[in-house]
Amino acid sequence: MKLLVCGGAGFIGSNFVRRALAGNDAVEVVNLDKLTYAGNPDNLRSVEADPRYKFVQGDICDREIVMRAAEGVDAIVNFAAETHVDRSLLGAAHFIDTDIKGVLVLLEEARRVGLERFVQISTDEVYGSIESGSFTEASLLNPRNPYSASKAGGDRLAYAYWSTYGVPVIITRASNNYGPYQYPEKLIPLFVTNALRDQALPLYGDGRNVRDWLHVSDHCRAILFLLEHGTPGEVYNIAGDNERENIEITRKILHLLGRPESLITPVQDRVGHDRRYSLDASKLRGLGFRPRVDFEEGIAETVRWYVENEWWWKPLKDHDGEFRRYYQQQYGERLS
Ligand code: NAD
Ligand code: TYD
Repeated sequence: MKLLVCGGAGFIGSNFVRRALAGNDAVEVVNLDKLTYAGNPDNLRSVEADPRYKFVQGDICDREIVMRAAEGVDAIVNFAAETHVDRSLLGAAHFIDTDIKGVLVLLEEARRVGLERFVQISTDEVYGSIESGSFTEASLLNPRNPYSASKAGGDRLAYAYWSTYGVPVIITRASNNYGPYQYPEKLIPLFVTNALRDQALPLYGDGRNVRDWLHVSDHCRAILFLLEHGTPGEVYNIAGDNERENIEITRKILHLLGRPESLITPVQDRVGHDRRYSLDASKLRGLGFRPRVDFEEGIAETVRWYVENEWWWKPLKDHDGEFRRYYQQQYGERLS
């Protein structure tokens, strides 16, 4: 099977590309990635020389490039997106471009060439926030920030191409991922790398917002599983079954690193901050899939990875003016 992986140089995409190539000699991967601030060729050093792997730098909004990259592929797995909620609150235009218009370009290409599968990587955030209980795939969508709204657009557009044109679309909605190679703007890698430098950990609001944490390897396993066993036109929730308050995650990181809790710095809350995400993943479980990584082990191993791989995150935080500009804009006033 030849896969076109879009956004394969990001956090989840790069973990997916490595796993797909390692798991099956017959798999070939074309990785189409624009290399935005979040895309990083270092994430895929280990497969660069593999003859079954090809990298194409380009934008999924660019039809010509998509047509060339998709030549001869059997399936598209689309990870490409603007993904950070806080950035979407600073400016949403790129989110609309990539997460909606880019998806349209990919769907049009899938329709034109008649692919076997199109997997649209959506998110639990499209359901919005829930006080108690969990969302099923049949729950109403109620995205509440520009990131989740744009992802909901891509998600429903993918569904429309299935129901209107029969493009064999599978839509996945996973919860918060953690693991190696996550750009250090998201909660876990930001707090681990700040703590390693004895810098403040800016915890939004009362720190009691809840996220369900899924190890990236389990997410990638689920996507490969659904490529084989998923039914076109269906949506699948992918949960970690591991809900935690942010304050608990923060304390856990500090404990693992042997750093003091005095680094925790409550800051002004994110606007419109979703209180709790929670998924019911019984549909996927019913097909025989279960996450494997125990959270206590997964978080310890993840923290260790950032400790041992400063070569990977230090250039992103220190030498990339982009990150420093963003950090100043997002946290400058909050931490002053
Ligand atoms: P990421 O920000 O680490 O990576 C995104 C990748 O997409 C980068 O390599 C970037 O260069 C690329 N990209 C962005 N715009 C592009 C464009 N126009 N054309 C081509 N490439 C482009 O994101 P991630 O955390 O790996 O998330 C991957 C996918 O999974 C996203 O669709 C996201 O919505 C979804 N998701 C993420 C999580 C999570 O916790 N991280 C949870 C559920 C779903
Ligand atoms: P994040 O990793 O941005 O993922 P998402 O918002 O997509 O769930 O944030 C996870 C949680 O951590 C969320 O409730 C916001 C919170 N958070 C902080 O408290 N401080 C921070 O600096 C960041 C980035 C997130």
